[in-house]
Amino acid sequence: MTKVLMVCLGNICRSPLAEGILQFKVDASKVQVDSAGMQGYHVGELPDKRSIKVAGENLIDITDQRARLFQVSDFDTYDFIYAMDTSVYKNLIEKASSEKEKTKVKLILNEVFPDENMDVPDPYHSSLFAFRNVYTMLDEACDIISKDLE
Ligand code: 4NP
Repeated sequence: MTKVLMVCLGNICRSPLAEGILQFKVDASKVQVDSAGMQGYHVGELPDKRSIKVAGENLIDITDQRARLFQVSDFDTYDFIYAMDTSVYKNLIEKASSEKEKTKVKLILNEVFPDENMDVPDPYHSSLFAFRNVYTMLDEACDIISKDLE
């Protein structure tokens, strides 16, 4: 079983979408996907209504997800840890306690645009359009990730 963790700031907008999209694309008996946030304001909450809506437009149900905080023990549990933006990436690297843990951390859009270090923009204060844009970016990244995992 390969284990993949998607990480953003609040675990209510971007990483729940990334979790839902990747899980939809992989064989659940081979790949387990989860998500987490770097800050705790929304712990225990459902994904943002706009993420739920955009996922639903693409026939993906993310309403079983609840926000949780990233824990350092996630470095042991997961094989790949994808940060949604460079700030989350840096924060994760700071929390890593070995080179092995650091190599698990990747910036998700580098799957699509290698070495460009692009962010999935935080859509929290934006419109549904921004969430659709986030979906498109994550769909492309998760396509590549899922094929690499096959
Ligand atoms: P996310 O978006 O990191 O994609 O879940 C955010 C959600 C909430 C906040 C920031 C970003 N917030 O500051 O509450």
